[in-house]
Formats: sequence, C-alpha cells, structure tokens
Amino acid sequence: MDESECWDGTAVGVTGCERCRALVDSRSRIVDGVGPTDAAVLFVGEAPGANEDEEGEPFVGRSGDVLDDGLRQVGLARADVRITNCVRCRPPENRDPTGDELANCRGYLDREIAAVDPDLVVTLGKVPAEHLLDRSVGVTGEAGDLDAVTVDGDEYPVLVCVHPAATLYDPSQRDTFESTLAVAAEYAGDGGQSTLGEF
Ligand code: URA
Repeated sequence: MDESECWDGTAVGVTGCERCRALVDSRSRIVDGVGPTDAAVLFVGEAPGANEDEEGEPFVGRSGDVLDDGLRQVGLARADVRITNCVRCRPPENRDPTGDELANCRGYLDREIAAVDPDLVVTLGKVPAEHLLDRSVGVTGEAGDLDAVTVDGDEYPVLVCVHPAATLYDPSQRDTFESTLAVAAEYAGDGGQSTLGEF
C-alpha cells in the first residue's frame, strides 16, 4: 500500500491504512494526532490504548488525565499543544508496537512533524524516545534532557519525558514528569525562543 493513498487531505491525518495486519484487526479506528497544526510543542506517545481506540483521540484515558493535569500545573492547556503517537492503531492486548509496526507508521509521524514544524518534540516514555532518537534511552535517567531528531532535513529538539503512566506506578516520578513539562512550557510560552541552551 502506497503511503500517499492514506493521507486524509490535511497532511497530518491518515485514512484507510492497512499496512499492519495485526493492528487492522485490533483497532476500531485510526487515531490521529490532536491539537493545533502549528503548535510550538508536539508530544509523541507510543500507541493508542483502549480508551484512545474508543474515542479516537490520543491520551484520553488515565495517562491522558495525568498528562492534562501535568500540563495544567505548568500553565498549559491540552489545546495549547499537539499530541500524537508513534503508531496510530491500538496494538492487541495493549502490547508494545513491533519494530515493523513502528516502521510502517514512521512516514505518517515524520509527515506530521514536518507539517506542524514544532519548536520542541516531547517524547512520552521509552518507545517514542528510542524510536525518534534511534538509540537506547534510559528514560528515568534522561528525563529532562534534550537531544534532536532530523526530519526532512530539518532538525527538531527532542525533550525526553517519562510516560505519564509511570507516575501512576511510581509516584516518585511525578516531580520528574512535572519538571520536564515545565521545560516544554518554556517553549510553548515564548514561541520557541527558549533560553535552555544550544537549541
Ligand atoms: N499511551 C500512549 O502512549 N499513547 C496514548 O495515546 C495513550 C496512552
């Protein structure tokens, strides 16, 4: 299937993709990113879960509540940022997406990054961090660190963040999560004229 057949006409939405057999069988719908298409900050999660699959929007379950709450703590609303996932279809039993599934969906993610052209990409959890940075990432240790990804010849700063769900399993991660979001808020607040170093 040719990727170009699957664009919904907006450059950031996907329709009718059937590249991953297992995901076509497990999904109810394709879950595209949400939020302004010119957002300064783009959050990237792993893949939709059951709630996201049902509602058709990323991060609307318990993880979404944690994300929304964290955003509020740093003065942002969900509507101020764009939120998407590495993989747009719910994996069966909420397993991690496979390497092939990540690769099949990468063109859509890259196209969304290029279209939104954010000042900062924030990875939520290990899967998106390793996928975008193309290296192994110790998320807890690297949370709050900046790296970069190149898409279509343009370099985007990437801020490593723990997954919101990690704060539910381990409340001690809450401070790390919020201080990382505070960095993101600086980018969102000043149109990307961050004072945070080389980026
Ligand atoms: N976890 C993710 O990584 N993405 C979602 O959309 C929801 C939970």
